[in-house]
Amino acid sequence: MNEIIEFIKKSPKAELHLHIEGTLEPELLFKLAKRNNIKIPYLNIAELKSAYNFTDLESFLNIFYQGSKVLIKEQDFFDLTWSYVLKCREDNIVHTEIFFDPQSHVNRGVNFNLVINGIYNALEKANKEFGLTSKIIMCFLRHLDESSALEILDQALIHKDKIVAVGLDSSEIGHPPRKFERVFKKAIEKGFLTVAHAGEEGPPEYIWEALNFLKVRRIDHGVQCFKDEQLVQKLIKEQIPLTVCPLSNIKLRVFNKLQDHNLKKMLDRGLMIMLNSDDPAYFGGYINKNYIESQKALNLSLKEVKTIIINSFKSSFLDQKKKEEWISQI
Ligand code: ADE
Ligand code: ZN
Repeated sequence: MNEIIEFIKKSPKAELHLHIEGTLEPELLFKLAKRNNIKIPYLNIAELKSAYNFTDLESFLNIFYQGSKVLIKEQDFFDLTWSYVLKCREDNIVHTEIFFDPQSHVNRGVNFNLVINGIYNALEKANKEFGLTSKIIMCFLRHLDESSALEILDQALIHKDKIVAVGLDSSEIGHPPRKFERVFKKAIEKGFLTVAHAGEEGPPEYIWEALNFLKVRRIDHGVQCFKDEQLVQKLIKEQIPLTVCPLSNIKLRVFNKLQDHNLKKMLDRGLMIMLNSDDPAYFGGYINKNYIESQKALNLSLKEVKTIIINSFKSSFLDQKKKEEWISQI
């Protein structure tokens, strides 16, 4: 077995870009549909999987939101999250910062409290049983308007002890970050950290806006940054983390193939990148597969792989002492 691949598998890693609803595997989707008596427009798992043939972000999101409709009860959110934490153990993820999309549940009548409690209780159990640490990030859906985001922020306030940050996801093009300036300002005032998807498909201007209007601590994706050299200079100088998701970018056709991905170029330029799985149940692999396939396609050296893994801890919301403890083990 190749020494670098062995290293990837064994090394502790942090995951910083993971949508918990995107870990809903077809098997669990069917099980929950049956348990909750929900009709889904696919006869079996093979038929469902054949629909996972995306042409862009929008084509994926249609299937993704449809899949989330089987999540109704607190137990469903617990089971979903529990399946993911088992993958973390398998892949040696020791710290994870996960997104959830409350508006996609609340807007179909599911109670906010049961969503957050189901997710949180599974993460707590994982911490007790095998030491996984985690943070929860609540995302606003950018295809909805800011008033809807403000309403969901109000509902989140009583769960401030469980949610560390707010983020921005869903359809990017046509929904610039500045549309959410007020809600992010309010979230910061209430003590939340901030991140945002930007420059996945959208232009570098959206990355500027996320930095300048939303005051984000990290950019999710950010792979379009090379279209603006001044922006690249800023991202390098300030070491602003970019949470890169290689297999996602291939499935959503941001790049044609992994060999064309710009993550090695990002690394060569000194950008603060790490690798993540985004929506692994839909994009064909969890974190180790993202690392291993990228290493093979771009011929990453052991040193480069180590840098990426160290970056995953450096860019996390862990405290400095904990970051140093993990980094000393890489
Ligand atoms: N929601 C789930 N996955 C997403 C992605 N890759 N981009 C934007 N919104 C998302
Ligand atoms: Zn994402």
